[in-house]
Amino acid sequence: MYRLLFDLLFRRLDPEKAHHLAFGWIRGVSAVPGLRALVRRVLAPQDPALRIRALGLDLPGPFGLAAGFDKNAVGIDGLTMVGFDHVEIGTVTGQAQPGNPTPRLFRLVEDRALINRMGFNNDGSAAVAARLAARPRSSTAVVGVNIGKTKAVPEQEAVTDYVTSAERLARHADYLVVNVSSPNTPGLRNLQAVDQLRPLLTAVREAADRSTGRSTGSTAGRRVPLLVKIAPDLADEDVDAVADLALELGLDGIIATNTTIGREGLRTDPATVAAAGAGGLSGAPLKQRSLEVLRRLYARTGGRLTLVAVGGVETADDAWERILAGATLVQGYSAFIYQGPFWARRIHRGLAARLRASGHAALADAVGSGAAATRTRDDH
Ligand SMILES: Cc1cc2nc3c(=O)[nH]c(=O)nc-3n(C[C@H](O)[C@H](O)[C@H](O)COP(=O)(O)O)c2cc1C
Repeated sequence: MYRLLFDLLFRRLDPEKAHHLAFGWIRGVSAVPGLRALVRRVLAPQDPALRIRALGLDLPGPFGLAAGFDKNAVGIDGLTMVGFDHVEIGTVTGQAQPGNPTPRLFRLVEDRALINRMGFNNDGSAAVAARLAARPRSSTAVVGVNIGKTKAVPEQEAVTDYVTSAERLARHADYLVVNVSSPNTPGLRNLQAVDQLRPLLTAVREAADRSTGRSTGSTAGRRVPLLVKIAPDLADEDVDAVADLALELGLDGIIATNTTIGREGLRTDPATVAAAGAGGLSGAPLKQRSLEVLRRLYARTGGRLTLVAVGGVETADDAWERILAGATLVQGYSAFIYQGPFWARRIHRGLAARLRASGHAALADAVGSGAAATRTRDDH
C-alpha cells in the first residue's frame, strides 16, 4: 500500500516537498486527539517485552527516530503516534538559519538511500526552546535534543554557539546530543578531533547543568544525559579516541553514526550520483560501516557507555544485530522514507519475536550479547 503511494506520489515529488507533505499528514492526524489515540494503538502497540531503561529513562522500546526529520520540534507527538519510542529533534543551532540552497535532498531509490546537504536549516535554539517549553505536560514522548554549530559562527567561536543552545535547550531535553559529524557545515567534523572535542564537551556539560539548575558537586537539579554523535568516516583510531574521551569526561553515550561522505558500492548510475552533488549519504549503503563503528565502540567501552546505533537500519534483523553488537537504543531515518508509517511497527514486532526466540528474559540482557561471541570466535 505505502509502496504504491511512494511510486505514484512521493517518488514524483521533489524529496523535500514530499517530506513536508508526509510530515504534514502525520501532524494533522495527531492533532485530532481521538484519531491520534486510535492510530497510535494500531502503529505503536506497546509490547512490555521491549521496554528498556537507557540513559536513566524508561522507554517503551529501543527504536527511535534519528535527528534531522523533525529539526524544529514541531511534530513530536505525531512521530510517537507512528511508533517511535523516542524522537531526536534537531539539529538545532544557536541562531536560526535557512540551510543550503535547494535542491538539497536526493533519493537514490535503487540503493534505498538518500543524499542530503540540508545544512542545518532550523528555527534556532531560542525558538525551539520556546516550542518545547509549550508542549503539554501530558505528553509522554521521550525527546532527545541534538545541537550543532550555526554556519555563520566562525570555527573558533563554535563552543560559545553550542553553549548558547545547551543553556536554552537542556532543561527541555530527556537527553542532549552534541553533533560534530554532519558533513554539511564547513569545518564541523574537525570538532571530532579530541583536542577540540574535549573543551567543547566540557563546556556543553557545564551549560546543560546550568540550564537544569544542577550545580557542580551537588545532586540537586536534573542531570541531563549527554551524548556525542560521530561520523562513519572517522578512522578506526579516531573512533577509539572519541570513545576514550567519552569515558574520561563521564559522557553518557555515543551515537554512531551520522551520514557518510563516501559514495562506494552504489548501484545507482554514477551520473545520477554525481548530479546529486555533495552531501551526506544515508540508508542501506551505510549499514556495514555503521555496524563496524558500533562494534568498535562496544569493544572499546565494554558496556560503560550507552551506545545508540544509527545508519542503514531497515529491518528488525538490522535492529537486532545492532542490539547484539552493543547498542541499547537504535535509530533510523532513511528507511522511514522508503517504508512508510508501518515501519516502526514492523521493527517492533520483529524485535519482540527475536527477543523471545533468543531466550533472553529482557531486551537489556541481549545488549552486547553477540559481541562477546564474536570476540571469542575471533580469539580462536
Ligand atoms: C535529510 C536528512 C537530514 C538529516 N539531518 C540531520 C541533522 O540535522 N542532525 C543529525 O545529527 N543527523 C542528521 N541526519 C542523519 C541521521 O540522523 C542519521 O544519522 C543518518 O541518516 C543515518 O541513518 P539512516 O541510514 O537510518 O538514515 C539527517 C539525515 C537525513 C537523511
